[in-house]
Amino acid sequence: MSEHHTIQLGVNVDHIATLRQARGTSYPDPMQAADIARKAGADGVTVHLREDRRHIQDHDVYSIRGNVDLPMNFEMAATDEMLKIAQIVKPHECCIVPEKRAELTTEGGLDVVKNIVELGDFVGALQEHSIKVSLFIDPVDEQIQASKDLGVEIIELHTGGYADCAEDQRESELDRIRKGAAFAHSIGIQVNAGHGLHYQNVVQIAQIPELVCLNIGHSIVARAAMTGFYEAVFTMKKIMIAARLESEANDN
Ligand code: PXP
Repeated sequence: MSEHHTIQLGVNVDHIATLRQARGTSYPDPMQAADIARKAGADGVTVHLREDRRHIQDHDVYSIRGNVDLPMNFEMAATDEMLKIAQIVKPHECCIVPEKRAELTTEGGLDVVKNIVELGDFVGALQEHSIKVSLFIDPVDEQIQASKDLGVEIIELHTGGYADCAEDQRESELDRIRKGAAFAHSIGIQVNAGHGLHYQNVVQIAQIPELVCLNIGHSIVARAAMTGFYEAVFTMKKIMIAARLESEANDN
């Protein structure tokens, strides 16, 4: 009998907050989205509290952590401010992502090789609080090995190169992710992946056997806007007509 493998989905609700912040309203609420994601079968919820607070706000992190029964993957830059927040929130895992030029590789992952000393202290400070640490890196062996050397439990391979490349580059980009996942698995690190995955390009990524969890946000929020649009327009029109009929009935 063949071994049954399953793959997990971490839903990133950042862009629910983007929509809210565009208007400064109280809706749509990322916590509500996270709870819908849970009911739909998501295995985790991901939020990225950016230093500039462009989408997720501090109160979102606390309310999701306190009210949604899903493991939280807290994405953050390696700063003192974020460390303090993480130590209070105590998410299931923290994924360290680059926000500044100096922390970036040319492809967009965290440059663990170059920043190994600073990251070492940071990873230790999270692990002391029983938080698992993940590093968002390119599928490059040196970055994977450096992550292993730092003692992190998880890496997340950056799939942006694969998602954004020209069609004739797709197979080679896919191959880099396959090889990176196999290498990481062989040296004993959990391998996740994410960024830019959508309803078409996720298929080949989901077939990579070593990948444990895919973190996906933008395409899910974009699809929700379209699949929910009919109901949203229909309901608005229904409310308007009901209101008009009621006021006309009152006038008569
Ligand atoms: N994983 C990481 C580390 C990310 O920074 C992001 C984007 O915030 C994602 C996954 C999700 O990417 P997308 O919104 O393109 O699905």
